[in-house]
Amino acid sequence: MLRALLSATTLSIVLASQAFASGPAPTEAQLKRGKLLFTQCQACHQVKAGAPSMMGPNLAGLMGRRSATAPGFKYSPALQKAKLTWDVATLDKWLHRPSALVPGNTMAFAGMAKAEDRAALIAWLSVEVAAAKGAAPAKK
Ligand code: HEC
Repeated sequence: MLRALLSATTLSIVLASQAFASGPAPTEAQLKRGKLLFTQCQACHQVKAGAPSMMGPNLAGLMGRRSATAPGFKYSPALQKAKLTWDVATLDKWLHRPSALVPGNTMAFAGMAKAEDRAALIAWLSVEVAAAKGAAPAKK
Protein backbone atom coordinates (compact mmCIF):
# COMPACT_ATOMS: atom_id res chain seq x y z
CA MET A 1 0.00 0.00 0.00
CA LEU A 2 2.84 2.33 0.89
CA ARG A 3 4.11 1.83 -2.63
CA ALA A 4 0.80 3.10 -4.00
CA LEU A 5 1.18 6.31 -2.02
CA LEU A 6 4.57 7.04 -3.47
CA SER A 7 4.26 7.93 -7.09
CA ALA A 8 6.76 6.21 -9.34
CA THR A 9 8.23 9.60 -10.11
CA THR A 10 8.94 10.47 -6.50
CA LEU A 11 10.58 7.10 -6.01
CA SER A 12 12.67 7.57 -9.12
CA ILE A 13 13.89 10.98 -8.04
CA VAL A 14 14.88 9.65 -4.63
CA LEU A 15 16.79 6.78 -6.19
CA ALA A 16 18.37 9.02 -8.77
CA SER A 17 19.62 11.47 -6.20
CA GLN A 18 21.13 8.60 -4.24
CA ALA A 19 22.92 7.30 -7.31
CA PHE A 20 24.09 10.82 -8.03
CA ALA A 21 25.18 11.56 -4.50
CA SER A 22 28.34 13.15 -5.82
CA GLY A 23 26.66 15.28 -8.48
CA PRO A 24 23.48 17.11 -9.44
CA ALA A 25 20.22 15.19 -10.01
CA PRO A 26 19.54 14.41 -13.68
CA THR A 27 17.49 16.90 -15.67
CA GLU A 28 14.32 16.06 -17.61
CA ALA A 29 16.19 16.66 -20.86
CA GLN A 30 18.90 14.19 -19.86
CA LEU A 31 16.35 11.53 -19.00
CA LYS A 32 14.57 11.99 -22.33
CA ARG A 33 17.84 11.77 -24.22
CA GLY A 34 18.96 8.78 -22.14
CA LYS A 35 15.78 6.89 -22.92
CA LEU A 36 16.28 7.50 -26.61
CA LEU A 37 19.91 6.38 -26.41
CA PHE A 38 18.91 3.17 -24.67
CA THR A 39 17.31 2.05 -27.94
CA GLN A 40 20.91 1.20 -28.90
CA CYS A 41 21.07 -1.23 -25.99
CA GLN A 42 17.64 -2.82 -25.90
CA ALA A 43 18.25 -5.29 -28.69
CA CYS A 44 20.51 -7.06 -26.21
CA HIS A 45 19.44 -5.89 -22.73
CA GLN A 46 16.25 -6.09 -20.67
CA VAL A 47 15.84 -3.76 -17.71
CA LYS A 48 12.75 -5.22 -16.01
CA ALA A 49 13.55 -7.27 -12.91
CA GLY A 50 12.98 -10.95 -13.54
CA ALA A 51 12.95 -10.62 -17.34
CA PRO A 52 15.21 -13.16 -19.01
CA SER A 53 18.65 -12.16 -20.17
CA MET A 54 18.89 -11.89 -23.93
CA MET A 55 22.10 -11.59 -25.89
CA GLY A 56 23.28 -9.47 -22.96
CA PRO A 57 22.51 -9.77 -19.23
CA ASN A 58 19.42 -8.27 -17.59
CA LEU A 59 20.41 -4.84 -16.26
CA ALA A 60 17.77 -4.54 -13.50
CA GLY A 61 19.23 -2.97 -10.37
CA LEU A 62 22.42 -2.15 -12.26
CA MET A 63 23.59 0.86 -10.24
CA GLY A 64 25.78 -0.35 -7.40
CA ARG A 65 25.70 -3.94 -8.67
CA ARG A 66 28.90 -5.99 -8.96
CA SER A 67 29.84 -6.79 -12.55
CA ALA A 68 28.97 -10.20 -14.00
CA THR A 69 26.34 -11.08 -11.38
CA ALA A 70 23.02 -11.25 -13.31
CA PRO A 71 21.67 -14.69 -12.43
CA GLY A 72 21.78 -17.27 -15.19
CA PHE A 73 23.84 -15.24 -17.66
CA LYS A 74 27.01 -16.74 -19.04
CA TYR A 75 29.56 -13.92 -18.91
CA SER A 76 32.89 -13.91 -20.70
CA PRO A 77 35.89 -14.93 -18.58
CA ALA A 78 37.19 -11.36 -19.05
CA LEU A 79 34.16 -9.72 -17.44
CA GLN A 80 34.00 -12.38 -14.74
CA LYS A 81 37.55 -11.52 -13.75
CA ALA A 82 37.07 -7.74 -13.94
CA LYS A 83 35.34 -7.40 -10.53
CA LEU A 84 33.88 -3.94 -11.12
CA THR A 85 31.04 -2.16 -9.37
CA TRP A 86 28.66 -0.43 -11.76
CA ASP A 87 28.61 3.17 -10.60
CA VAL A 88 28.54 6.40 -12.62
CA ALA A 89 32.31 6.59 -13.17
CA THR A 90 32.73 2.93 -14.14
CA LEU A 91 29.73 2.96 -16.47
CA ASP A 92 31.08 6.09 -18.13
CA LYS A 93 34.30 4.24 -18.97
CA TRP A 94 32.43 1.10 -20.05
CA LEU A 95 30.09 2.98 -22.37
CA HIS A 96 32.91 5.08 -23.80
CA ARG A 97 34.81 2.01 -24.91
CA PRO A 98 33.91 -1.37 -23.39
CA SER A 99 36.99 -2.99 -24.92
CA ALA A 100 39.30 -0.49 -23.20
CA LEU A 101 37.82 -1.01 -19.74
CA VAL A 102 37.56 -4.81 -20.02
CA PRO A 103 39.70 -6.17 -22.87
CA GLY A 104 38.26 -9.42 -24.19
CA ASN A 105 34.66 -8.78 -23.08
CA THR A 106 31.98 -10.02 -25.48
CA MET A 107 29.64 -7.03 -25.62
CA ALA A 108 29.42 -6.16 -29.31
CA PHE A 109 29.17 -2.41 -28.86
CA ALA A 110 31.98 -0.13 -30.02
CA GLY A 111 31.24 2.68 -27.59
CA MET A 112 29.56 6.04 -27.26
CA ALA A 113 31.88 8.92 -28.08
CA LYS A 114 30.05 11.92 -26.61
CA ALA A 115 30.45 12.52 -22.87
CA GLU A 116 27.05 14.22 -22.65
CA ASP A 117 25.35 11.24 -24.30
CA ARG A 118 26.98 8.88 -21.82
CA ALA A 119 25.90 11.12 -18.94
CA ALA A 120 22.31 11.17 -20.23
CA LEU A 121 22.22 7.40 -20.70
CA ILE A 122 23.68 6.81 -17.22
CA ALA A 123 21.15 9.25 -15.75
CA TRP A 124 18.34 7.30 -17.39
CA LEU A 125 19.79 3.98 -16.24
CA SER A 126 20.10 5.34 -12.68
CA VAL A 127 16.45 6.27 -12.60
CA GLU A 128 14.75 3.58 -14.66
CA VAL A 129 16.92 0.60 -14.01
CA ALA A 130 17.74 1.20 -10.37
CA ALA A 131 14.04 1.69 -9.78
CA ALA A 132 13.09 -1.67 -11.29
CA LYS A 133 10.75 -3.34 -8.82
CA GLY A 134 12.19 -6.29 -6.98
CA ALA A 135 15.65 -5.83 -8.41
CA ALA A 136 18.15 -8.04 -6.64
CA PRO A 137 20.40 -6.00 -4.35
CA ALA A 138 24.09 -5.92 -5.14
CA LYS A 139 25.88 -8.90 -3.63
CA LYS A 140 29.05 -8.17 -1.70
C1 HEC B 1 24.99 -6.63 -29.37
C2 HEC B 1 24.48 -6.80 -28.04
C3 HEC B 1 24.74 -5.71 -27.03
C4 HEC B 1 24.50 -4.35 -27.13
C5 HEC B 1 23.99 -3.58 -28.34
C6 HEC B 1 24.80 -3.79 -25.85
N1 HEC B 1 25.22 -4.77 -24.99
FE1 HEC B 1 25.75 -4.51 -23.02
N2 HEC B 1 26.33 -6.46 -22.93
C7 HEC B 1 26.22 -7.38 -23.95
C8 HEC B 1 26.88 -8.61 -23.57
C9 HEC B 1 27.01 -9.89 -24.41
C10 HEC B 1 27.39 -8.40 -22.27
C11 HEC B 1 28.23 -9.37 -21.43
C12 HEC B 1 29.68 -9.15 -21.84
C13 HEC B 1 30.66 -10.17 -21.28
O1 HEC B 1 30.27 -11.13 -20.62
O2 HEC B 1 31.87 -9.97 -21.57
C14 HEC B 1 27.01 -7.03 -21.89
C15 HEC B 1 27.28 -6.45 -20.67
C16 HEC B 1 26.86 -5.21 -20.28
C17 HEC B 1 27.02 -4.65 -18.96
C18 HEC B 1 27.64 -5.37 -17.76
C19 HEC B 1 26.49 -6.02 -16.98
C20 HEC B 1 26.87 -6.88 -15.81
O3 HEC B 1 25.98 -7.62 -15.35
O4 HEC B 1 28.02 -6.85 -15.35
C21 HEC B 1 26.47 -3.40 -18.98
C22 HEC B 1 26.40 -2.44 -17.82
C23 HEC B 1 25.98 -3.19 -20.31
N3 HEC B 1 26.22 -4.29 -21.07
C24 HEC B 1 25.33 -2.03 -20.72
C25 HEC B 1 24.98 -1.76 -22.04
C26 HEC B 1 24.42 -0.50 -22.49
C27 HEC B 1 24.05 0.65 -21.59
C28 HEC B 1 24.28 -0.61 -23.85
C29 HEC B 1 23.79 0.45 -24.81
C30 HEC B 1 24.64 1.58 -24.98
C31 HEC B 1 24.71 -1.94 -24.22
N4 HEC B 1 25.12 -2.61 -23.10
C32 HEC B 1 24.67 -2.45 -25.53
C33 HEC B 1 25.60 -7.18 -25.16
C34 HEC B 1 25.21 -5.95 -25.66
